[in-house]
Amino acid sequence: MVQGKKVIVGVTGSIAAYKSAFLVRALIRKGAHVRVVMTPAAEQFIPPITLATLSRHPVLRDLADASGQTWNNHIELARWADVLVIAPLSANTLAKLAHGLCDNLLTAVYLSARCPVVLAPAMDEDMWLHAATQANVTTLLQRNHHIVPVEHGELASGLVGMGRMAEPENIVAFLEDLFQKKTQPSPLDGLAALVTAGPTFEPIDPVRFIGNYSTGKMGIALAEALLEHGAHVTLILGPSVEPVPASNQLKVIRVHTADEMYQQTLRFFPQAKITIMAAAVADYTPAQPAASKLKKLEHESMTLTLRPTTDILHELGQLKQPGQVLVGFALETDYEFDNALQKLYKKNLDFIVLNSLRDPGAGFGHDTNRITIIDRNGQSLAFPLKTKREAAQDIVNFVATLLKSSAASE
Ligand code: CTP
Repeated sequence: MVQGKKVIVGVTGSIAAYKSAFLVRALIRKGAHVRVVMTPAAEQFIPPITLATLSRHPVLRDLADASGQTWNNHIELARWADVLVIAPLSANTLAKLAHGLCDNLLTAVYLSARCPVVLAPAMDEDMWLHAATQANVTTLLQRNHHIVPVEHGELASGLVGMGRMAEPENIVAFLEDLFQKKTQPSPLDGLAALVTAGPTFEPIDPVRFIGNYSTGKMGIALAEALLEHGAHVTLILGPSVEPVPASNQLKVIRVHTADEMYQQTLRFFPQAKITIMAAAVADYTPAQPAASKLKKLEHESMTLTLRPTTDILHELGQLKQPGQVLVGFALETDYEFDNALQKLYKKNLDFIVLNSLRDPGAGFGHDTNRITIIDRNGQSLAFPLKTKREAAQDIVNFVATLLKSSAASE
């Protein structure tokens, strides 16, 4: 609930700056206290008087006022706020925040802020998708800042694509959600959670392996979503180059093979109240990996003998104690629902997350996923295509609902 909340709205130089007028008006109507901080570039897009009138307070732009006599204390301002929202956030200011540059009042306020930071980027699609921008976004997410997803639509360039700033009502809804989460502690708060993620690499010899296309993105997003609920997370991560969040509530254990993943998962499972197995674990591994590099053979084919690995999830299903929540994934191409439900029963899970490889945008490598959650009663909940981050939040919210209902029935 934003009523009574102290909100700093930062406005940067972007065509979408006109939308910040609607944002400020919506926040004031909902009873928030708003102070607007503009960057010098923002004034080319919206006059300060509009935002001053709507927010009922002078807009702050400089570190000192025009007379040069009065200091706009950015530290005091940053400490006053319950939340700092920067909307629109240009590619330029986004880069400055990621790198800690401080050349105007808004960037100074950002560096002094201890409150949650909510960012609503706005830029052309090419700028948004550029590796530099995406790397900066990753840096900001690793700082646990919130990014309001950009929307698809008409852009200032006249092109149509990703990069439009979220509509003001969606930003307000995002803030309502954030404050609600903060005021109503999650049932996962303080609990131990265990997540497996990424592929496994099974050595053939010292330079070759059998692997799969998993990147680890889904499992890392799950770890992030669990952290947002206040859980203490152990992430057992196969070979993945994806960035992991920086948090003192997160322990990351790096492994390579299915056997290593099994050993490490067993170590942490007894303490874990919630376990989510998102890793794509190899079902078979070379029976006898060669100690030195295999040389090319004279004949045309070669045979590699494989032995089965342990089905970690199945094993945990046997060890599971009352009160522990165990969640698995099923990646299927045929008879998706039936196969997933069978896996759920066979592995003794509380629920299973089904991914269909037939869905465009779902599965390995993508930033998006389309999931269906199936519970022990065979009830299913199909979600639309979402970012992996959002899909992870849906899964963790489902865990929270499960914990709440089992606490209520005790
Ligand atoms: N899993 C596991 N250990 C394995 C294989 C799979 O813990 N050795 C887990 C995965 O992390 C996932 C679930 O089991 O949560 C299902 O994985 P999936 O590959 O879809 O199923 P499998 O049981 O391996 O069956 P199949 O490959 O025949 O579909």
